[in-house]
Amino acid sequence: MAVLTALIFPFSVVVFAAVLTPRHASALTRQDFPERFVFGAGSSAYQVEGAAAEDGRRPSIWDTFTHQGYSFDGTTADVSADQYHHYKDDVKLMHKMGLDAYRFSIAWPRLIPDGRGKINPKGLEYYNNLIDELILHGIQPHVTIYHFDLPQVLQDEYGGLLSPRFMMCCSEDYTAYADACFQSFGDRVKHWVTVNEPNIEPIGGYDTGSNPPRRCSYPLGADCTGGNSSTEPYIVAHHLLLAHASAVSLYREKYKATQGGQMGITLLGWWHEPATNTVQDAAAAVRMNDFHIGWFMYPLVYGDYPPVMRSRVGDRLPSFTAQESEKVCESFDFVGFNHYLIMRVRSIGTGSSQNPVDYYGDAAVEYPSKDISKGEVETAPWSLGKLLEHLKLSYGNPPVWIHENGYADAAAGEAEYDGDDHDRAEFLQDYVEALYLSIRNGSDARGYFVWSFMDVFEYLFGYSMRFGLCGVDMNSQGRTRYERSSARWYSGFLHGGELRPIAQSQKSLVE
Ligand SMILES: *[C@@H]1O[C@H](CO)[C@@H](O)[C@H](O)[C@H]1NC(C)=O
Ligand SMILES: *[C@@H]1O[C@H](CO)[C@@H](O)[C@H](O)[C@H]1NC(C)=O
Repeated sequence: MAVLTALIFPFSVVVFAAVLTPRHASALTRQDFPERFVFGAGSSAYQVEGAAAEDGRRPSIWDTFTHQGYSFDGTTADVSADQYHHYKDDVKLMHKMGLDAYRFSIAWPRLIPDGRGKINPKGLEYYNNLIDELILHGIQPHVTIYHFDLPQVLQDEYGGLLSPRFMMCCSEDYTAYADACFQSFGDRVKHWVTVNEPNIEPIGGYDTGSNPPRRCSYPLGADCTGGNSSTEPYIVAHHLLLAHASAVSLYREKYKATQGGQMGITLLGWWHEPATNTVQDAAAAVRMNDFHIGWFMYPLVYGDYPPVMRSRVGDRLPSFTAQESEKVCESFDFVGFNHYLIMRVRSIGTGSSQNPVDYYGDAAVEYPSKDISKGEVETAPWSLGKLLEHLKLSYGNPPVWIHENGYADAAAGEAEYDGDDHDRAEFLQDYVEALYLSIRNGSDARGYFVWSFMDVFEYLFGYSMRFGLCGVDMNSQGRTRYERSSARWYSGFLHGGELRPIAQSQKSLVE
């Protein structure tokens, strides 16, 4: 039985009166975007840096996982694109491309290799150099503090994200690490993301067990040595949310007045649509958007989990004390979204006490059998519009950064890294147009980052999937970089060139 979500709006949504002007004749340029709108591209530390065992860096849970052979192609990010040694050349490329901003993350196991305590001087030096180089070239650093790479030592010592130790305020490990970041880099970094994709890390790591630290329980996940898929994902998400709020409180109390930066959190922004036109599936899609997006947005805006999660997950869903609720509520200046896919969902029956349920069981949905690992995915630019419209109507139109959006190629042949990728350029133009239309329609989008600036290690997919504007020859000693044609397209646009006219879009902008 499907329960329709009742979203409550305690404050009225301000909708800017905006008239959509058809622009058949002229094409978009970046001048059509708001004055301070930022265009960038991104990466994350584990995916791009390499130098995994150099200059005092210690393993993260992802090093352990890849060294056990769990990426689909059996690779690791020990070297990857080796940005650790090539950051100067990379910043030159970014400058040539015309990026306003570079989104990257700090590796906790490089800056504080033991998880807490002493700062590694070599790690500090690396990030200082990278940040200085960016600023020297007029590129804003947008920095993620935690992007999946938890120090393995904290996993071993107390169970990492599952432990209350991860989130307890101020003296505890994540907040102390965030404090070190603000103190070391906050004079130059004005955009901070506390946590990347906290709405998927608990699923991969603690429900299906497909990602580190590979915890799950049978039959919900397979091949795990421990875990509880019915409870742990919710606990881990709760800890990530409280850790986020704790870092934001700390920043506001100790650094905001002098450093004047903005703080946010970045969610994975799958957009769920019904698999069929039944009312059950329509309700399932609404429910799943609440489980996926509302899991974090609802507490951030209203101070508690969405009512549909409260009623379906019951006492397996952690509760907030009044003090925690107050701390979480409005603990952001912006929210980031990584938007790629449309996910079709089907409604299924709910579990019983004989059949334990996980997150998807609680949501009473299943995904039809597309195999994401084989690239069987659905994308269309209108889903970005729907996501932004949803944030506008359900969550008070927060300032939003599209922190990731991009197009994957399979890494097929030898020459692929410098090949023409017109499909990617087309794809990105479609989304830039969709974003423009949402802004015209009142969404408060502040920036757009292409994933990824260059080819990187794509987590589970290793090097078998490439998203880079710049290609990287992962087999060459110096990890040679190549400008793909999408890089030339983006560069042209960023230097004032026209997007091809809207009328020529390859894909429809509305469903
Ligand atoms: C998971 O936790 C729930 C709630 O504590 C418990 O009822 C269930 O038996 C646990 N499952 C496993 C596989 O340990
Ligand atoms: C534009 O915004 C209005 C008000 O929120 C909404 O009703 C409409 O569906 C939006 N249009 C698009 C194309 O998103």
